[in-house]
Amino acid sequence: MADITTDVLIIGTGPAGSASAALLSSYGVENLVINRYRWLASTPRAHITNQRTMEVLRDLGRDVEDEAYMFAAEQDLMGENVFCTSLTGEEIGRMKSWGKHPLSRAEHQLSSPTLMNDLPQTFMEPLLYKTACSRGSQSRMSTEYRSHVQDEDGVTTTCLDRLTGKEFTVRSKYLVGADGGNSRVAEHAGLTFEGKMGVAGSMNILFEADLSRLVAHRPSVLYWVLQPGADVGGIGMGLVRMVRPWNEWLIVWGYDINQPAPSVDEAHAKKVVRDLVGDPDLEMTIKSVSTWTVNNMYATSMSNGRVFCMGDATHRHPPSNGLGSNTSIQDAFNLAWKLAFVLKGAADQKLLDSYQDERAPVAKQIVTRANKSIEEFGPIFKALGLLDSIDPVKMQQNMDARCNNTVAAEEQRAAIRKAIADKVYEFDCHGVEMNQRYRSGAIVTDGQAEPAFARDPELHCQQTSWPGARLPHAWVYSATGEKLSTLDLAGHGKFTVLTGIGGQGWIEAARTLGKERGIDIAAQLIGPRQPWQDFTGDWANMREIRDSGVLLVRPDHHIAWRSEAIVDDPSAELRRVLTTVLGK
Ligand code: FDA
Repeated sequence: MADITTDVLIIGTGPAGSASAALLSSYGVENLVINRYRWLASTPRAHITNQRTMEVLRDLGRDVEDEAYMFAAEQDLMGENVFCTSLTGEEIGRMKSWGKHPLSRAEHQLSSPTLMNDLPQTFMEPLLYKTACSRGSQSRMSTEYRSHVQDEDGVTTTCLDRLTGKEFTVRSKYLVGADGGNSRVAEHAGLTFEGKMGVAGSMNILFEADLSRLVAHRPSVLYWVLQPGADVGGIGMGLVRMVRPWNEWLIVWGYDINQPAPSVDEAHAKKVVRDLVGDPDLEMTIKSVSTWTVNNMYATSMSNGRVFCMGDATHRHPPSNGLGSNTSIQDAFNLAWKLAFVLKGAADQKLLDSYQDERAPVAKQIVTRANKSIEEFGPIFKALGLLDSIDPVKMQQNMDARCNNTVAAEEQRAAIRKAIADKVYEFDCHGVEMNQRYRSGAIVTDGQAEPAFARDPELHCQQTSWPGARLPHAWVYSATGEKLSTLDLAGHGKFTVLTGIGGQGWIEAARTLGKERGIDIAAQLIGPRQPWQDFTGDWANMREIRDSGVLLVRPDHHIAWRSEAIVDDPSAELRRVLTTVLGK
């Protein structure tokens, strides 16, 4: 007999675990979340928060979304990505990033009701965790996952209460391993991985200093400093990252992975900060120093029976592109509604297989992208002449050569500009953030061909209502002038049918099927004199179905199925599709 019972036990209160708990509690599912430490993230690791993540927060509630914006540095403060020799030194180049370029900003505005922002993990985790606990999650801090065994009916997990030193057991129907990059849950569940851990060593130095005079005129979250000869491999690239504008900062500095992780004392940390800032007398307060490794590994299986892993437990990669916490929260959005439907008896357990089918390709994609982004600094180093010598004096001369009035220097300047512009794949990669299209048993395409991407799918968000894609965003208006996104009409733990004039049959079918299955299927009508109006025509341009057609949208905003127009028996059609998607 276990000491505690719950429906879902979640290991970890990071972005993945806290988001899972918040979503499950919002869906009315009993859950217990544990963390081996006494509190949440103590350092502001993740920060770039993309629109898809903000859509998850918005789905949790406008209060949750608003609180995130309240604590975040806004998008306008994020994007003057600077390359320089130090913050006081020479600026080599700049790249407008994270939707700062007006063309990119327009794409952001057209794709989502939300705004990208910079929200350090030290704010994101408390927000998600508070949402979870206030909506019903049970939580135990200073509690460590030790091991688990599963059988046909559930999972028995052994935990250690670190305050008393005593072990206890939790019996749950499902176990979620959101226990980070060294996941023991994933290991014990026998998940399979590809790739390598520990490909490079990095050090974080968190400090407080007012640097407004050096940065406020070129607001950015990232300032890349190139100091030939200053570090591992000779190139000496360090990152000065804004944590809070403009008085809290995190320096990321490499160390040789072939040596033991360095122990950095305060004097050493201050020297690194002063070198990168370029001010030998800079007054600062060092808040913490920690080391971490760059990984290149993703799970090829994300679940085993009743055990599901997510977040860094399944995708382990460098911070490039800022995808880690974002993807972790989005993993939770994919899994939570499925667990809720199965636990409430509205879906067969096989719905849960779609979690792995849908999210494992995303894990591979983002790990590959983030590691490629590191490699793509190479052309910048090459163009600056930093790869032609290991002598710091010569390297500096090569960098200086770009200022000459020669043909070679003009070519060098062009190469530098191109290499910096090509970093768009790290710093403005909107398609990777937004274009996830799922293929699984929980999607019914009825053989409709996937639309090709008209532009680079990594860079540009392309909205489509093809089943598997995320519901396109367009603003619609109520008779009283309320303005909502189509995404707001869906989600919130429910399936939604979205239709227009002539689609009344779908609305009735949704009611019939909802009653039949004991689930609440939301039904939304968009059109003139209907509850929602498409005054601008944006929705009509985007929906890829006729007025009488329908989109069946899953609780995670992804389209489960669509019909181009009304059919003879909408209830029979909807029943067929729901039976496939829900497995019963
Ligand atoms: P995470 O590691 O955050 O949490 C794991 C949780 O499990 C913790 O609560 C831990 O205590 C707990 N735990 C572990 N073992 C346990 C056990 N045995 N028992 C109980 N509890 C246990 N991402 C991003 O999206 N945007 C960004 O800009 C950045 N930037 C960034 C910068 C830097 C410098 C770093 C190092 C990382 C980033 N990231 C990022 C990545 C991001 O920090 C990371 O992807 C997320 O924290 C992953 O969230 P998880 O919840 O999966 O794991």
